[in-house]
Amino acid sequence: MGLGAASVAMGVVPDLVRANERAPGPSLAALARGKGLRFGSAVGAGRAGSLTGTLDDPRYRQILIDECGVLVPENELKWYVLRPDARTFAFERADRIAAFAKAHDIALRGHTLLWHHPKWFPAWLNAYDFGKGPAAARNARALLVDHIDKVVARYPQIDSWDVVNETIDPRDGSIRRTVFSDAMGPEQTLDAAFHAARAAAPKARLVYNDYMGWEAGNEAHRAGVLKLLEGFRKRGTPVDALGVQSHLGTEDPAAAGGLGPPQEKAWRAFIDEATGMGYDLLITEFDVNDQALPADIDVRDAETAAVAKAYLDLMLDYRQTREVLAWGMVDKYSWLQGFTPRKDHLAKRVTLYDDAYRPKPLREAVAGALRSAPARA
Ligand code: XIL
Repeated sequence: MGLGAASVAMGVVPDLVRANERAPGPSLAALARGKGLRFGSAVGAGRAGSLTGTLDDPRYRQILIDECGVLVPENELKWYVLRPDARTFAFERADRIAAFAKAHDIALRGHTLLWHHPKWFPAWLNAYDFGKGPAAARNARALLVDHIDKVVARYPQIDSWDVVNETIDPRDGSIRRTVFSDAMGPEQTLDAAFHAARAAAPKARLVYNDYMGWEAGNEAHRAGVLKLLEGFRKRGTPVDALGVQSHLGTEDPAAAGGLGPPQEKAWRAFIDEATGMGYDLLITEFDVNDQALPADIDVRDAETAAVAKAYLDLMLDYRQTREVLAWGMVDKYSWLQGFTPRKDHLAKRVTLYDDAYRPKPLREAVAGALRSAPARA
C-alpha cells in the first residue's frame, strides 16, 4: 500500500503527508555537530489551548527531525503554563515535547526556570502573600526551590537550562522587581535559582538568558547584563553561560524593528567581557525580524540572510559559542507574526523555512555560517 492510501486509511488528510522540500547537502544538525556545536529550534506542544501549535503539524515535525540536534519548548516550561496554582504542576504539554525529542533521539534544552519579570508571572504568583519579615524570605525561597527541584527532576534528559530569563530592565540595567525579589532580595533570588538548579542537575549547562542585542538602543541593557554576570562571579553563583537570544531586528527601540547598522565594536566589547569572565555563549532564540523591510519578498529574504550571516559569523568565531537555536523553523508559526506585525499586514518571513515548508535564503545563511565556523573541542 502506498503512503497516500495508508494515510487515507488512517484518516489523515493526504495533503499533510506531502514530502517537504529538503535543502541540499547535510542537515543543520550535522553541520553543527561537525564543528562541535548544536543546532536546534523551539517547538510548541500544539493541541488544545495551543500557544504555537507546531507538534500537531506532521510537516513541521519532519523539519525538526531532519534539521535539529536539540529542541526547546517555546512556552511549555514557563510558570504560566506549568503552574495553575502554588501546589499543582501541569506537566502534560512539556511531557509531549520531551517524549517527541526522546523518540527521535534529539537533545532537549529547558526554558526557563525563572522568567524573572512580573509580566510573565501567573496572576496568582504576582498576588502571592509570603508573609512578613524573615518568614517571607523563607517562604519565597521554599516556593522557588520546590518549583526548580520538581521541574528539573521531571526532565533528566534536559542538559542545558535557561535558569533565569530576562531579569535586566533594558531602560536602566537594573534587576526587575518581583514578588520573589521583594521577599528575598534581588541577587538572593537569582542566586537561589542557580544554586537550586545546580543541586538538581549537577551536569547541566546553566544559563542566564536575555535579549540585549547588537543594535543601537541596547547600551543600558548590555551594561546591566555585564554587571549581573560580574556579580554572579563575585558571589560564586553557578552560572556557566550567557544565552544571547538573538531576535535580530526586534531589539532596536529607535527603529521599532528595523535592521539598522549594528554597533559591531560595542557588541564585540560586550561579548569579550562576558567570555573574559569565563562564560560560554549560546544563541538561544534566533530569528530575523523583517518588520521594517520592503514588501518585496526577494529583497526581504536577501536582507535578512545577509544580516544573519554577518551576525552568526561574528558569534561563531567565538569558540565559547556552544549552541545555536532558532525560535521556530517555519514563518507562519513564529511569535513575531503577532508580536510586531508589519504595517502593511504582509506575513513576515523571519525563520528558516517558508509557509510551504521550503528552505529560504535564511536557512542557507545559517548553513553557511556553520560551514565556515571554526571547529571547537
Ligand atoms: C515567547 C513565545 O514565543 C510566545 O509564544 C509567547 O506568547 C511569549 O513568549 N523571549 C523569550 C521567550 O525568552 O520566552 C519569548 O517567547 C520570546 C522572547
